[in-house]
Amino acid sequence: MRKIIVTGGNRLTGEISISGAKNAVLPILAATVIGANESTIFNVPELRDVEVMERILLSLGCNVKKMDKMIWVDSKPLNNHKIPEDLVREMRSSIILMGAMLSRCGEVIISYPGGCEIGPRPIDMHLKALRELGAEIEESHGFIYCKANELKGCEIQLDYPSVGATENIMLAAVKAKGTTVIRNAAREPEIIDLQSYLNKAGAKINGAGTSVIIIDGVDKLNNVTHNTMPDRIVAGTYMIASAITEGEVVVKNIIIDHLQAVIAKLREAGCLIYNDNNSLKIIGPKQINSIEMIQTLPYPGFPTDMQAQMMALLSIANGTSIISETVFENRFKHAEELTRMGANIKIFGKVAVIKGVKELTGAKTAAKDLRGGACLILAGLAARGVTEVENMYHIERGYENFHVELRELGADIKKID
Ligand code: EPU
Repeated sequence: MRKIIVTGGNRLTGEISISGAKNAVLPILAATVIGANESTIFNVPELRDVEVMERILLSLGCNVKKMDKMIWVDSKPLNNHKIPEDLVREMRSSIILMGAMLSRCGEVIISYPGGCEIGPRPIDMHLKALRELGAEIEESHGFIYCKANELKGCEIQLDYPSVGATENIMLAAVKAKGTTVIRNAAREPEIIDLQSYLNKAGAKINGAGTSVIIIDGVDKLNNVTHNTMPDRIVAGTYMIASAITEGEVVVKNIIIDHLQAVIAKLREAGCLIYNDNNSLKIIGPKQINSIEMIQTLPYPGFPTDMQAQMMALLSIANGTSIISETVFENRFKHAEELTRMGANIKIFGKVAVIKGVKELTGAKTAAKDLRGGACLILAGLAARGVTEVENMYHIERGYENFHVELRELGADIKKID
């Protein structure tokens, strides 16, 4: 089993260039099946989740070629509408293929993704919306059978601005007859990137980034080239790596606006942050300040995907901080592991109370999910002594060469196979 060994205490300095966003490129790769066209996607991160999506596209019959940070997909030869169960199990977000495949073939069979490490994660909103667009959906024996002779544009009111449901509806509605309006849509930047890819291919979508998205159905999509947006969560994670080590790191190739909620909280924690075009310099303070309250929220609120990393930082603050996780049911598994490192954290349902300690001490820990794994590595950077983080595969789902990049910034870190 691969694990990370980190010896804490080194101050991180230098520059890091941020890769393309996992959560943008996954729905875009799903979207490549819609048009029986060719898509060339640049700035694609080398991650396990992206590999799984490539394998799904291949299993559906698409031609897929990968070169460095570029993926080319020709979806003309697509000849299968069943998404392999083992791959859905490996990557829950393969559920966004439902909308894309319905749009392409009027039919898709996918296994029920079920819950995951961060909570039960139902897909009721996805299914309700697809039914409203005209799909017939049957769920039996753990599979979802979707069929639609014709998808018809309609008005969809989401009960919650779900990122995945918003993407699934956009993908299903691209070629639907007439106009689809999504109200209370998710406003995440990754939705804007999906709109941008689809519109370059000839779709007519407006409003991504706001809570009302309007999709006018088109007959076909053309060949398209797209450059994936930078990963705001990877950027935020390196910002905390600098903050927690009293470091001075410049995070380059980012869209600063996407990081405003994280910047505000890091400033409250005492960091000095300077911006310059597409980069930010983060100078970590001698002593982290506690933060009265962080509430995770849909964008533009504080991202749930940064909650675990922030908890690592606040565990060595000079006082008590509160984190309220409002997006997911069960996203505090890292707290128990941080406690093994000497952190003082109490969980009350969806609220964590973090009483800052003077120092963390290295310990054997295990990543329970992707961001929780990143949190433990960050804690290890600041801890006295050696920290082991097991279950490296979680971290590889969302961070490209994490330990190599951290080592280049000065961390004492290695991966053991
Ligand atoms: N929800 C429902 N019913 C639905 C859909 C969602 O109850 O039909 C609930 C979820 O259970 C959750 C909340 O709504 O409690 C938000 O879920 P959302 O659908 O917005 O999340 P997602 O699309 O499943 C994406 C990211 C997550 C990120 C969330 C929130 C991808 C591939 N995943 O998930 O990323 O945390 O949005 O921003 O885009 C990660 O990268 O580590 C990660 C988990």
